[in-house]
Amino acid sequence: MHKIDIELIEMTLDVMKYAIGRISATEHDIGKPKKAEELKAIVGETVTPKGVGGEYAFNLWKEHLSKANVPVDHPRNLAFVPASPTRAAIMFDLVTSASSIHGAYWMEGAGGIFCENEAMSWIVSLTGLPEGAFGVFTSGGTAANLSAIVTAREYWRRDETYKREKGLIITSIGAHSSIKAMAKVADVDILLVDSEEELKGDALRKTIDTLNFHQRKRLFAVVATGGTTNAGIIDDLEGIANVCEQENLWFHVDAAYGGGALAADSVRHLFSGIERADSITIDPHKWMFSPYDCGAVIYKNPELAKEAHSQQGSYLDIFKDEGAHGFNPTDYQIQLTRRVRGLPLWFSLATHGTDRYKQAVERGLELAQIAGSMIENNPHVELVREPSLSCVLFRRIGWNPEDYTNWTYENHKKGFALVTPTKWKNGDSFETVSRFCFINPDTTEKDIAMILDSMA
Ligand SMILES: Cc1ncc(COP(=O)(O)O)c(C=O)c1O
Repeated sequence: MHKIDIELIEMTLDVMKYAIGRISATEHDIGKPKKAEELKAIVGETVTPKGVGGEYAFNLWKEHLSKANVPVDHPRNLAFVPASPTRAAIMFDLVTSASSIHGAYWMEGAGGIFCENEAMSWIVSLTGLPEGAFGVFTSGGTAANLSAIVTAREYWRRDETYKREKGLIITSIGAHSSIKAMAKVADVDILLVDSEEELKGDALRKTIDTLNFHQRKRLFAVVATGGTTNAGIIDDLEGIANVCEQENLWFHVDAAYGGGALAADSVRHLFSGIERADSITIDPHKWMFSPYDCGAVIYKNPELAKEAHSQQGSYLDIFKDEGAHGFNPTDYQIQLTRRVRGLPLWFSLATHGTDRYKQAVERGLELAQIAGSMIENNPHVELVREPSLSCVLFRRIGWNPEDYTNWTYENHKKGFALVTPTKWKNGDSFETVSRFCFINPDTTEKDIAMILDSMA
């Protein structure tokens, strides 16, 4: 298995050919899922005592299995938060894999971690956080949010008064599902302000004022969103920062999706107040054009994260030794062994420069505005709200929830587009609507027009 022979050389060339084809392709099929039983019926047993052979397995991948995936970078994949990794970043993902780097400790991964930190310095500079702030790359926004919540909770519990209290955090219903999920993992209660629109400082203040004495005692953090997943809404970060400061609460900003827009001059002012956060989540695998998986958690005071996350063990002592000194990413988030997942981003940034990132994000913002105008000029559809960041919510006049679902499946089945429905809170009820999220700068106006036409 670990020896080199001619078969291995040939296989390497085949894999490279596939990778070159994928990296240089300008069009991809959209791909459709199949049931696991159907896939099994097609490919049969693949994991056997003697193995089926690399060539055979690779052919199964190329012919059948790869086609059961929806590429996130298809220009008409506008569902959820799609992605669009740069070709340079994808290329360097191959180099990252081939280099076998353990990215937890400087002692083993200094070269890779150095590159990650160069990329991280740029991301931190976009936030405007004060000198000393820094972050690490995580597996995604979920892990970044968890790392931040745990850091905040541990900091709060330094005080003996809170040692045996179950923590409480406040966010809004616009917050991403991972906040609720990660609060559960951290065994923290969560209070949701019942608005999907911008969470304002005043609303936060009112919510805190309704807490009873014990709830207030348990409250230790507020999570604001810098670009909601559903609608691209940025909370009132300045107002929330004021309240957090007055109330001595940890201020976390989840900008997993919207964080890329910090690079865009046209909308940077909307994030005003983010520079006062205690921690921030930004996902380079969303709007910073990194391949999966690459999230980031950034702290105003990284030492607090270290106190919460640094692992201890006699086998790890060597890493704390003077001879092994350096920045250890494992100390600042929940994972020990980690891939140097910021390395592809670093290579792409170094290749293209940060200006190209600005332009690519601006294009996503522009596409949302273009889609908004097209919707306003189309008699069959109407905007649910003005486009925000790169999200556009719109309704097809006269459609019920089933119509949206059927339309999604039909377009997907045809291999034409993936645009999925969502719900928007309208008064006390939730309305099913359609949603675009633009990330890929290669999406064209024609793509948008064709998708809207398919609703007629
Ligand atoms: C605002 C926000 N936070 C967190 C997440 C979770 O990120 P991940 O899927 O990388 O774990 C998402 C994902 O869409 C998001 O949009």
